[in-house]
Amino acid sequence: MKVMVIGSGGREHALCWRMAQDAGTQVHCAPGNPGIDTVAQCHDVSSDNIAGLVALAQELKPDLVVVGPEAPLVVGVADDMRAAGFPTFGPSKAAAQLEGSKAFLKDFFARHDIPTGAYKNFTNADDACAYIDAMGAPIVVKTSGLAAGKGVTVATSVEEAKDAAREMLSGALFGDAGKEIVIEEFLDGEEISYFAICSGTDFIPLGSAQDHKRVGDGDTGPNTGGMGAYSPARLMTPALEKQVIDKMIVPTLKGMTAEGHPFHGVLFAGLMVKDGVVKLLEYNVRFGDPECQTLMMRVQGNFTQMLLDAANGNLTQSVTMSENPALCVVMAAQGYPGTYKKGTVIRNLDEAASATGATIFHAGTKKESGNIVANGGRVLGVTASAASVKEARDIAYKAVNKVLWPEGFCRHDIAWRAL
Ligand SMILES: Nc1ncnc2c1ncn2[C@@H]1O[C@H](COP(=O)(O)OP(=O)(O)O)[C@@H](O)[C@H]1O
Ligand SMILES: [Mg+2]
Repeated sequence: MKVMVIGSGGREHALCWRMAQDAGTQVHCAPGNPGIDTVAQCHDVSSDNIAGLVALAQELKPDLVVVGPEAPLVVGVADDMRAAGFPTFGPSKAAAQLEGSKAFLKDFFARHDIPTGAYKNFTNADDACAYIDAMGAPIVVKTSGLAAGKGVTVATSVEEAKDAAREMLSGALFGDAGKEIVIEEFLDGEEISYFAICSGTDFIPLGSAQDHKRVGDGDTGPNTGGMGAYSPARLMTPALEKQVIDKMIVPTLKGMTAEGHPFHGVLFAGLMVKDGVVKLLEYNVRFGDPECQTLMMRVQGNFTQMLLDAANGNLTQSVTMSENPALCVVMAAQGYPGTYKKGTVIRNLDEAASATGATIFHAGTKKESGNIVANGGRVLGVTASAASVKEARDIAYKAVNKVLWPEGFCRHDIAWRAL
């Protein structure tokens, strides 16, 4: 089976790495990265060049297209691929609104009685501020559109919330993504993620993960794209999973189908858990980085076949998840999530992996005069799986210590909640 993956991060490296292990699978990736290049054939077409990606598919004639990032999905890459005749794992533009428009998402939750925080959508700053006054703080203000993880303010005072609302609606910081905002009830609790492979009406659960958004040990410092993850999440129980499936995944798939936008792809639920009760914060319509790295370590069976089945709308249980937990430590460039240097040389990656049994996924690297160099904020995902979270952690950190990259750093407490 020939697969074409779209994207260039750690998530896509993990997806390509996993699919390359399925017998008879040949993996291509656009644009890929130097890590992906070791398991797939990379093609120099960027993930926002939709016409270029369709042209590449016409040349490669893949049996399956797998879309990694949200941005091309939200502008309709899956529709274009399907129209060109290629089965595609990833939602249509209409179904990708679950991630691309938080206002759509919250109204959808309300229409289908899916448990989430109380909210209201606004396009006008005076109305938004009046609502904030009426609700009080703490309160959460979100841009409706995609903002690369930077469009949410969890405000501890009414003034902070109003400032955020005014700034978002002004267009100064977020442009069109902030033309509409969601103001939402603050939900207390512990966050976990849940993943389901969906084929319109049917789904197969991949289980849970928990990531670490703050840059510093002990969950301190500014927010990031994610500094590490482990799977499954310690809080996930069969009872909680039943709530997620019965009250969220099933009604979502039914609702999207009833509204004419059947969902094909992965539903990534961002959950808030408090005293055994779960509420939905948001959906993403693609895998997360670094959660994907941990899930791909645990998938057993023919993963490529499952993605193809989901794309074709006839899902069969072709994978199970290993009982063994997995853990991923992100190595980032010093300064991230603020300003950081690119182009610093990273050495000893092969030795770090082979001496420890860890798998090192590339998130932001490139090749320069034969060297692997840093090319982003989050650069590597050092990942391991073992009989316990503690063992997986020990393997991952042993590998981290063998990576020779003085300009990099990581958190030292990934999975602390589970340990
Ligand atoms: N209603 C809420 N109550 C408490 N915290 C929230 C709430 N909504 C979002 N957050 C926090 O803000 C983060 C980002 O919000 P989210 O809705 O996931 O948007 P995005 O991931 O698109 O930035 C969440 O991971 C969570 O930590
Ligand atoms: Mg989120």
